[in-house]
Amino acid sequence: MQKNKSNDTSVTIIDEEVCMGDEQFIVSKTDLRGHIIYANRTFMEMSALSEDKLLNINHNIIRHPDMPKGVFKFIWMTIKKEKEFFGFVKNLRSDGRYYWVFANITPEYDVNGKLSGYLSVRRKPPISALDVIEPIYETMLEIEASASSNKIAEDNSIDYLQKQLKNLNVEYQDFVIGLFNSQ
Ligand SMILES: Cc1cc2nc3c(=O)[nH]c(=O)nc-3n(C[C@H](O)[C@H](O)[C@H](O)COP(=O)(O)O)c2cc1C
Repeated sequence: MQKNKSNDTSVTIIDEEVCMGDEQFIVSKTDLRGHIIYANRTFMEMSALSEDKLLNINHNIIRHPDMPKGVFKFIWMTIKKEKEFFGFVKNLRSDGRYYWVFANITPEYDVNGKLSGYLSVRRKPPISALDVIEPIYETMLEIEASASSNKIAEDNSIDYLQKQLKNLNVEYQDFVIGLFNSQ
């Protein structure tokens, strides 16, 4: 039995998927630290968390232990540069089940044009994309498990991802958008 240790909750992980509907969008907004300041109803339904369990809480409340640290490092490296992020994320529901999303994260600005937070919109990913992404994330996790520190884990697993992209001769964003469109 596995527990999610990335946040204060101790959810028992259940290896059972809950799929998003084709027409559904999960939307959330965060502050600069990734604390949730808005969650739409679909987000509450898919995470099985009520609004009061989500608001003002770090987005890692739905972090699934099958997600490599390197992916989140890559997300934060991208959005802190005020660039848009696209990618596949496996998320944890409060009942222990999981759901996959294709996420887009964009910067948000205040009236003075200063970066004020982030907006994320997610859609149902095609199975064909997950068939490609899951083995990559599994290898990233194995690489991370054998590293002597979190920093080395993140760096080595991002290196692995970059090498895969280099072998395929594709940039990260083109790769994931291509997978999303391959349905
Ligand atoms: C707008 C936005 C959306 C995010 N969405 C998710 C998400 O859906 N799932 C997730 O696990 N982390 C998401 N994150 C990243 C989390 O803030 C966090 O970095 C990640 O869960 C790893 O947490 P940890 O470093 O505490 O393990 C999001 C961050 C931002 C800024």
